[in-house]
Amino acid sequence: MGTHCLRLRALRCVSARGLPAQPQCKPRVVLGIETSCDDTGAAVVDETGKILGEALYSQKEIHLKAGGIIPPVAQRLHKEHIERVVQEAVDNSGVSPCELTAVATTVKPGLALSLGVGLEYSLKLIEQYKKPFIPIHHMEAHALIIRMLHLVEFPFLVLLVSGGHSLLAVARGVSDFLLLGQTLDEAPGDTLDKVARRLSLRNHPTCCTMSGGEAIEYLAKIGNRLHVELTQPMSQHLDCDFSFSGLRNQVNQIIIKKEREEGFQEGQILSCVNDIAAAVQHTVAAHLAKRTHRAILFCKKEGLLPQPKPALVVSGGVASNEYIRKALRIVTEANGFSLRCPPPKLCTDNGIMIAWFSKPWNPADRQ
Ligand code: KG4
Ligand code: ZN
Repeated sequence: MGTHCLRLRALRCVSARGLPAQPQCKPRVVLGIETSCDDTGAAVVDETGKILGEALYSQKEIHLKAGGIIPPVAQRLHKEHIERVVQEAVDNSGVSPCELTAVATTVKPGLALSLGVGLEYSLKLIEQYKKPFIPIHHMEAHALIIRMLHLVEFPFLVLLVSGGHSLLAVARGVSDFLLLGQTLDEAPGDTLDKVARRLSLRNHPTCCTMSGGEAIEYLAKIGNRLHVELTQPMSQHLDCDFSFSGLRNQVNQIIIKKEREEGFQEGQILSCVNDIAAAVQHTVAAHLAKRTHRAILFCKKEGLLPQPKPALVVSGGVASNEYIRKALRIVTEANGFSLRCPPPKLCTDNGIMIAWFSKPWNPADRQ
């Protein structure tokens, strides 16, 4: 299997030693700002991982109505809400802006127009309050938020699954990732969002305000996956990469056929919508679990993880999915791995993970 080093490191403007010393041992506090996609998030977190204040504005409903994220619309909504969101997080924290140790902001990857809003706003803040700026890599923040909640030692295996990414890597240290596999086409969250759109779930009375992934999980609960036949992606590929676009094409064909059978037009909710959701969710879960299993076997063979009790960390929006977690638990338990997933609120985009990841002052974290 081909592996290569993934340097996810964003340009770091301050070093561990570059941050101001804290008088009287008061924990240092960072304001984190996230605007990489369609969530405007902010949080004030101290170096012990205590969340002092947080706020989040989700643009989800507007994009659901529009049938997808339109970058200039996302940019405008970030601009309209960033001030209020940051203000709310700071006010709730009881920390005055002057007391902040630094401002940390997502700088990549993401939608350029969305990222620009967070960056511009942060630069104004650091200028106004004369604070250091810490640029943050969004995926690194997803990968390491687990360490705010549990003591997970490096190195560990990490599966990051969101609307923009699908990757398996060995996290060897902060900003040091060995990439084992990634998606060859689209990310699983993107696939679930597109399937939900094609199923016209914005017209569904219960699911109309849910993200595609949430809606599929909700509908799948009472669906029978065996009623819809889907082929597993990449079953012949002996590596840890992912592919989801073929699955989406299969589902589209099935939907077209069912619409014809039911005499429906696109826009109406099919009677078999729960079965389709269950089959798609199962196929995504099985694909993620199989590739993760391959990565576990590879790590064992190469001695890349500590024994006993190596860990698999799963994060990103799609990691909120209980069915997918269950599938991964089967694989981890069978292989002597512990499975660590942040709570759903910390799996999806938020300012907390950005503030937490900016914690560069503890030398133990850098190992
Ligand atoms: O990490 P995230 O908030 O944003 C990105 O960085 O992409 O992930 C958003 C993605 C969306 O595609 C959404 O449909 C998916 O996560 N998602 C879910 C669930 N909740 C959100 N997918 C499956 N099951 C869920 N419960
Ligand atoms: Zn994300």
